[in-house]
Amino acid sequence: MQEPPVILTCAQPTGGLTLGNYLGALRNWSRMQVDHECYFGIVDMHSITTPYVPAELRRNTLACLAQYLACGIDPSKAHVFVQSHVIGHSELAWVLACLTPLGELQRMTQFKDKVAKLGFKVKEEDTADLKFTHSGSRAQASVNSGLLSYPVLMASDILLYNADLVPVGEDQRQHLELCRDLAQRFNQTYSDTFKIPEAYVGKSGARVMSLADPTRKMSKSDTNQNATIFIHDEADVIRKKIGSAVTDSGNEVKADPEKPGVTNLLSIQSAITGEEIPSLEKRFEGQGYGTFKQTVAETVVEALQPVRDKYLSLVDDKPYLESVLKDGAAAAQKTAFRILSKVYRKIGFVERPR
Ligand code: TYM
Repeated sequence: MQEPPVILTCAQPTGGLTLGNYLGALRNWSRMQVDHECYFGIVDMHSITTPYVPAELRRNTLACLAQYLACGIDPSKAHVFVQSHVIGHSELAWVLACLTPLGELQRMTQFKDKVAKLGFKVKEEDTADLKFTHSGSRAQASVNSGLLSYPVLMASDILLYNADLVPVGEDQRQHLELCRDLAQRFNQTYSDTFKIPEAYVGKSGARVMSLADPTRKMSKSDTNQNATIFIHDEADVIRKKIGSAVTDSGNEVKADPEKPGVTNLLSIQSAITGEEIPSLEKRFEGQGYGTFKQTVAETVVEALQPVRDKYLSLVDDKPYLESVLKDGAAAAQKTAFRILSKVYRKIGFVERPR
């Protein structure tokens, strides 16, 4: 019998999961667990690349698992694990780092965005010898080398399970490209070892934008409270956030690059209901933004209500959550050791004496 394709994907346990994570990622994951061998990671090692509070990370990691389960991930069908519980992620990342030219990392869009969020600016002409200019009081911390190596660790997460398919939102495409390049480079350097993983980006919901600034993606770590809908937000909070979402001048409900706010709300409505955008435009013709926003708010409330209810029923059940992670880590570790041993053999490391 043919083995089912392997899926690997992950999210960072930094704050709560957002409507963007749900529509762009988790909704697709739960659909895939039926006919694929799935590994769903909670990547705490990625979360320490930017400033964070240890007690919050600990709390958010279990809460993230409760949110995965609330979004429909079923631990009897998929392996759900915490990255730091599995030996091999940082080990393989080291091997891959030795195949990654510095310049490839310095060009990564997310790296530059995160550096900018820390209050620094990367000067384009400096990419060979990275320098950051400091923009005064907004700078929160120095740029650590973990942040630069982040995409290598992400490639390791994927290749450690020899994944065929990686379901992600639009924002992760560039990282996926690097992962594919590294897999190819490894295979060419040492002989065929890794499959070349494909990104799976859903047709709708792959790029949900901030409600406060619809030119930027909706993000867990946005400092503006109204920018992001969390999947565990109460109904009235969701209504308020969508009610105050930035729309554009005029009152025509139309998807248009000149109207990023309205376009974002149309995309959200379409991603949840499956109704195509042209049909939505027709339905809301002449009705103005008020009615439209109310409809979108009710759609989101309805979609997230069961998720929120399930989340609340799970989040305080620490023994159950820990038992899920124990099983997930054991299954993930088995695969990870197998692939890591193969890699170590190929690159010339002597086998560990038994
Ligand atoms: P993270 O934690 O930022 O996001 C998790 C998943 O949600 C998707 N996503 C979005 N989709 C649509 N609209 C948005 N506004 C939005 N925001 C986030 C992301 O594309 C992602 O699929 N680097 C990754 C985590 C990671 C990973 C991996 C992913 C680490 N190792 C290996 C896949 C495979 C990240 O920070 O995702």
